[in-house]
Parts: sequence; C-alpha cells; structure tokens
Amino acid sequence: MPLEIRPLSDHLGAEARGVDLSKPVDAATKARLNKAFSEHSVLCIRDQMLTAPQMLDAVRLFGEVFRQHNTRFALPECPQIHYLSNQDKYEDGKRYIPGAGYHTDHSNDAEPPKATVLLAIQLPDTGGDTQYVNMHKAYEDLPAETKKRIDGLTGVHVYQSKFSERKLMGLPPEAQKHVPKAVEHPIVRTHPETGRKALYLNPIRIEAIVGMPEGEALSLLDDLLAHAVQEKYQYRHRWQKGDLVLWDNRCLLHKANGDYDHSQTRYLYRVMLKGDKPV
Ligand SMILES: [Fe+2]
Repeated sequence: MPLEIRPLSDHLGAEARGVDLSKPVDAATKARLNKAFSEHSVLCIRDQMLTAPQMLDAVRLFGEVFRQHNTRFALPECPQIHYLSNQDKYEDGKRYIPGAGYHTDHSNDAEPPKATVLLAIQLPDTGGDTQYVNMHKAYEDLPAETKKRIDGLTGVHVYQSKFSERKLMGLPPEAQKHVPKAVEHPIVRTHPETGRKALYLNPIRIEAIVGMPEGEALSLLDDLLAHAVQEKYQYRHRWQKGDLVLWDNRCLLHKANGDYDHSQTRYLYRVMLKGDKPV
C-alpha cells in the first residue's frame, strides 16, 4: 500500500497510512512524513504496532531524542521512552491522570523539546482524546494592541508553577540534578522552520512575567489562555490502537481528557525530540 497522507481538520493535523515504521524507511518517505509534520503540526501515523526499540528508531526519522525530566516514568528496558498511564497513583492514593489541563511539554527546559511523540498501546473503550490548540492562529487573531503589549514579554517557567491547578508527580532526586530551577522564554515565539509567530503559554509552568506585577501577569496570562483555547483553534484527536502521533510543541498546546472509565487502562509510550531555545 503506498503512503497516503490526508488532513484531519481544516487547520491542524494529518494522518498517514501505508507505512510500516518497524521496517527501514526510504529517503522519499522520510521526507514526505517530515513535510507533513511541518505543515500540519500534528501527524498521526496509523497502525504502528511497534516495540519500544522500534519506536525509538521510528521517531529518529524526525529528530534526536530528548532526555525527559521525570525518570520515574522511564521504561526500565528502554529509558529514553517514558510511559503515560492512568494506573499510577499519587502518594495519597488518588489516581494520577497524566496530561490533564492545557500545556506545552517541558517548557521549563532551556531548550524545550520541539516535538512529543506518543504511541497508543492500550486505550479505554471511549474517551481519553487529546486536544490540541493551534497557537499560531491564536496569536495571529489577537487585536493589534494586544500583540503590541505582549511582543517582547518574557515568561518565567519552572517545573511546577505555584499557580498551577494541576499537580505534577514530584521529581526523583537524581532527576532534579538535570532539571533547571527556572528558565525564561518569550511569550511570543517565532517558529524556527516557518518563521510564523505563536503564543508560548503554559499554565502549569509559567510562574511570572519578567518586570510585571504578579496580579497583572496572572490576569494577562489567563486572558491569553482563554482566547487561545477557543474551540475554533482546536483539533481533537480520537486515539486508535497503534496510532503514533507526533506534535509540534513550538506552536501547540495540548491536553489529555480524563473523561473515561478509569478502571480501564490508558497506556501510551512517550518520546520527545530535541528542540532549540525559543526566540
Ligand atoms: Fe503533555
């Protein structure tokens, strides 16, 4: 079956069929997949029944593997891959639902990952979709005076913002050594491949805006987020087993929905790809 790529919505996402990433991929196929990722920001490659090492080989078609921060989720047999599972519990026994609430991955890194890749291993019967927000479009639609106000502003990103509504799992001591205390990134960043501007927000990690009083910063960030997450900027991905989905963290927010039967397992492999310092 030849490689076929088609859009998943009118502004975000494409799916690819007819490629088996457990086998070597030729240069033309690699180029088409990379182009689809670059153009659509979310690329779902269907029917990939891959082992952990095969997944690593597959994602290397798109870049270099990034070291993820929280080593407690590393697969023992393949630690560059982490897992997402709804079967983990907080210390107080409450169920941990990974990925709830809009965010962009690992923005508390000086060079955050350009992309995140998930492989669906086990899924609930219904629900557990991942929602994406197109932050290029959200930025471009802002009123001129808002653009003027926010261009040049810098956000302070930490592992977990004291204002975050979502509680993350703590970092094990050995992981803390590799994770920066705080980093600064522009609130409006320019995509290094396309030159398009995008809002770069993260309600889980941004704790302050440099030089702005706290109340003003929080209200600005809330307003920008409320604007960005409108339905018209969203694409909602309904997972199928074997979906290998990669998305562009430089111009998207994403969140996982906890709207499913939690006695059913939702389990995915996760890899991230190295990115540049946002500018
Ligand atoms: Fe995430």
